[in-house]
Amino acid sequence: MKPTASPKTYRVKSFGCQMNVYDGERMAELLAEKGITPAPEGEDADLVVLNTCHIREKAAEKVYSDIGRLVKAGDERGQKPLIAVAGCVAQAEGEEIMARAPAVSMVVGPQAYHRLPDMLDKAVRGERATDTDMPPIAKFDALPERRKIGPTAFLTVQEGCDKFCTYCVVPYTRGAEISRPFSDLVTEAHKLVEAGAREITLLGQNVSAWSGENETGHTVGLAGLIRTLARIDGLERIRYTTSHPADMDDDLIAAHGDTPKLMPYLHLPVQSGNDRVLRAMNRSHTAESYLRLLERFRAARPDLALSGDFIVGFPGETEAEFEDTLKIVDEVRYAQAFSFKYSPRPGTPAASMDGQVAKEVMDERLQRLQAALNRDQLAFNEASVGKTCTVLVERKGKHPGQWLGKTPWLQSAWFEADVAIGDLVEVELLEAGPNSLAARLREPVTA
Ligand code: SAH
Ligand code: SF4
Ligand code: F3S
Repeated sequence: MKPTASPKTYRVKSFGCQMNVYDGERMAELLAEKGITPAPEGEDADLVVLNTCHIREKAAEKVYSDIGRLVKAGDERGQKPLIAVAGCVAQAEGEEIMARAPAVSMVVGPQAYHRLPDMLDKAVRGERATDTDMPPIAKFDALPERRKIGPTAFLTVQEGCDKFCTYCVVPYTRGAEISRPFSDLVTEAHKLVEAGAREITLLGQNVSAWSGENETGHTVGLAGLIRTLARIDGLERIRYTTSHPADMDDDLIAAHGDTPKLMPYLHLPVQSGNDRVLRAMNRSHTAESYLRLLERFRAARPDLALSGDFIVGFPGETEAEFEDTLKIVDEVRYAQAFSFKYSPRPGTPAASMDGQVAKEVMDERLQRLQAALNRDQLAFNEASVGKTCTVLVERKGKHPGQWLGKTPWLQSAWFEADVAIGDLVEVELLEAGPNSLAARLREPVTA
């Protein structure tokens, strides 16, 4: 491929989890340092970064169709874009991408993207490069300062996963668990707040496995980090995601009760309500131990909103075993949840297990599960009507004077008022829908 000139504009398209969103922001910052600016909405970019996800099937195929579309648009425009494939598909299938897609000049894994600027220099000279090394800390040290301007920000504190659930690619695409150092995180959080963030969500594939040495040399877990960040002036809200039931310690549970800036929301995937399936998934918890854990969280923070992930149709899952998942849903009453059909991933143990479940059976189970989850989400929203709470204003609505803010329980609340993005205001929740609530402004908490 013969690029015509150094790129002036870029677009980063992130798929998958919030950690990819964070990585996408950091790649954008790297490109901005090179004087490349974001392509205006609706216009083709000179450089496109496809920041991909490998978690379920068809993700890789989607990458190839995206590349095809970019090439076609380039032909029409008379200038081929430079294309970089980043993220978890890049990590898992980098060589294949290079072989199959000549239009791609850069393939860069999730732990190597700090080297994107060098790769770009090469690409401009017509050289193709692949970098899927895994030196995780080096990446963070090499990234530029944060220049976030929105009110909510992501902060990756932990990467990788050692859990090896039998269905999952993440341990292979993101590597072993590592925790970023405490002081680096405190510094980055300060920078984010100076740049306008009022809410920070701490991210990790297993965020509650984070540990580090605090300013006095003591080893602390995620709760210790949260308590320190809660002392930052101007930072009003802290969240974290995603957790594994095996890594939740007493201190984190206690923090939900004693740290007001830590929002009353917990995303704790269970995947299945059946112990045989959980064992086959290598989840290291049972339905009962999961429920007991939730009880302890709810005791610390009674208004805690719960969220989870579910997989239906794991190999060998019977109708009765699936019904155990419906039972646990009935018991927990999630405020929000994500549910998926099992998708066999190349190289994972579950992909070669006996008893792969037929697609129609999975479709039907997913429908029943989602009906139950939607019922509970609406019920949770309805139970919030009449409450007064703060919302962090995130964006404008469709109608003039209308705004969208998030409640402490991560619900979207719409209201009309004279406010600005980033304001933290008090509202009364008036009316509930399945995905959002209507609200009325009470009084500004802060300007
Ligand atoms: N580390 C997190 C998130 C992992 S990916 C955790 O353990 O919870 C997000 C979700 O995708 C998982 O919780 C799981 O529900 C789903 N998932 C992962 N692999 C999958 C697969 N092969 N098929 C279907 N869903 C899958
Ligand atoms: Fe995947 Fe399990 Fe690790 Fe989550 S805990 S990332 S589901 S292997
Ligand atoms: Fe997808 Fe990788 Fe995240 S596979 S879910 S982008 S860790």
